[in-house]
Amino acid sequence: MRTLEDLDVEGKRVLVRVDFNVPLDEDGTITDDARIQGALPTLKELREKDARLVLMSHLGRPKGTDPKFSLTPAAQRLSELLGTEVTLAHDLDSVPDGDVVMLENVRFNDGETKNDEELAKRYAALADVYVNDAFGSAHRAHASTEAVAHLLPSAAGRLLEREVATLRGILDEPKRPLVAVVGGAKVTDKIGVLDAFLDRADEILIGGAMCFPFFKAQGHEVGDSLCEEEGVEPAGRVLRAGVDKVHLPVDLVAGREFDADTPTQAIDGVDVPEGWMGLDIGPSTAERYADIIKDAETVFWNGPMGAFELSPFAEGTRVVAEAVAVTAATTVVGGGDSAAALKQFGYAEMVDHVSTGGGASLELVEGKPLPGVEALS
Ligand code: 3PG
Ligand code: MG
Repeated sequence: MRTLEDLDVEGKRVLVRVDFNVPLDEDGTITDDARIQGALPTLKELREKDARLVLMSHLGRPKGTDPKFSLTPAAQRLSELLGTEVTLAHDLDSVPDGDVVMLENVRFNDGETKNDEELAKRYAALADVYVNDAFGSAHRAHASTEAVAHLLPSAAGRLLEREVATLRGILDEPKRPLVAVVGGAKVTDKIGVLDAFLDRADEILIGGAMCFPFFKAQGHEVGDSLCEEEGVEPAGRVLRAGVDKVHLPVDLVAGREFDADTPTQAIDGVDVPEGWMGLDIGPSTAERYADIIKDAETVFWNGPMGAFELSPFAEGTRVVAEAVAVTAATTVVGGGDSAAALKQFGYAEMVDHVSTGGGASLELVEGKPLPGVEALS
């Protein structure tokens, strides 16, 4: 993959694809600016080389132009962080001059998500060279992440470079033992990752509602737990392939409903009674998982252990997050919910690498080619 070492940016106009798809609250306030912070090294380096920047990003999944999905808050936040004015350009056909200009949400443009060549030409016309630093969008073949990369001299920015090197590094040459902690609601989203780790990891720790298809495959009662039916067969296959390394919970915390005020019940074992749903791993499981993480040399974590956003069901995820934070191992956390959990419990600074990509980090770990990366290779 070409990097900034391979691209002449000195004094040039540089089109930079960033992923400023940040979470906003109802008032349009950014609730987590990690993705903007993540792009700063590249943007500062380019500015130090006297480049003028034309930034572009998507936000959300708008259908056409929609002010709810404006990049105005992101442009304001970036302006504060860079200490430079950031001008938001609303019209692709009359982009103002400026040291740092940001195009409005690229998904307002017809053809963006179709990787349209004509749209990519309009982007390319705005600059001399192209830098992609949008790791979080590298799994998308869109006009601003893929097509445009072929139309200008192009390279990866520092964030994209570091994400790819770190995530590939844990697959290609991990210090062992390598422990994969995989959680979340849907096992079908994680089968590719589990397959990759069956080949490579020493231990695989499973939590979250995705453990119920595993339990069902083993013949346990899952009660009213969220249990993806189409996940039962693949979960059974993973279990058979990974008898020596796949760990499942040995106890659970259940509730009547997905609600913080619901009655709760500690279950010693993994059979969930009718009328109850498993919403967290139990304390014995959390302790076992923490022990395995303590002895690891490399840990990859993606997906919470339970409904950590509801306080009665947060403890399993908190204990695992703490173990990931304090272990001496190299720790890499996939984006999305696990990053949010680390932040909620105050451990985000204690992890070696928190990916800015959710889907992108999973696809990379699965060994799938990322179109945004391939286009720079
Ligand atoms: C993300 O948040 O996953 C990336 O920014 C990509 O967004 P998308 O899933 O809407 O393509
Ligand atoms: Mg996504």
